[in-house]
Amino acid sequence: MQRTAVALHRGDGPSLLVEVGKATSSLGMNKFVKDASALVLITQESTNITSKLGCGIKDKDFPVMDLGIASAYITLAAEDEGIGSCILGWFDEKKIKELTGIPQKKRLMLIISLGYAAKPKRNKVRKEWNKVVSFEKY
Ligand SMILES: Cc1cc2nc3c(=O)[nH]c(=O)nc-3n(C[C@H](O)[C@H](O)[C@H](O)COP(=O)(O)O)c2cc1C
Repeated sequence: MQRTAVALHRGDGPSLLVEVGKATSSLGMNKFVKDASALVLITQESTNITSKLGCGIKDKDFPVMDLGIASAYITLAAEDEGIGSCILGWFDEKKIKELTGIPQKKRLMLIISLGYAAKPKRNKVRKEWNKVVSFEKY
């Protein structure tokens, strides 16, 4: 089966979300995740032959890029609804697959935590645009 995303929310029974949340948390990372209202688990599915060929010829991992793009759009759509989010790459993949029934042979690439922010957003410190963009030449 090809699903790409598995959604968990507190309505499904809080324990699964909390268990998955706990499995994202180690070495002081991601303590907040077990308190999220919802989690979206992003899995990598097998690609079609065209995509495989394109990746091979261009030596680029297009499916991983697609998952990053999809994840970014989920966070933007959430923000538009006034919902906070965090893209997570730090978690116990094997444990979460066991908990949610994602086959072990599939990769669980990212998790997006969603919820209403407990406190106002911190001030974002961004690099100046001219430190990250150049014109005409690299
Ligand atoms: C692929 C990826 C994986 C990430 N993994 C984590 C993570 O496991 N835990 C975490 O707190 N932040 C993680 N982050 C960072 C946050 O998702 C977020 O990008 C960061 O807090 C900066 O947010 P801002 O751009 O709104 O300031 C990850 C970001 C990316 C792009």
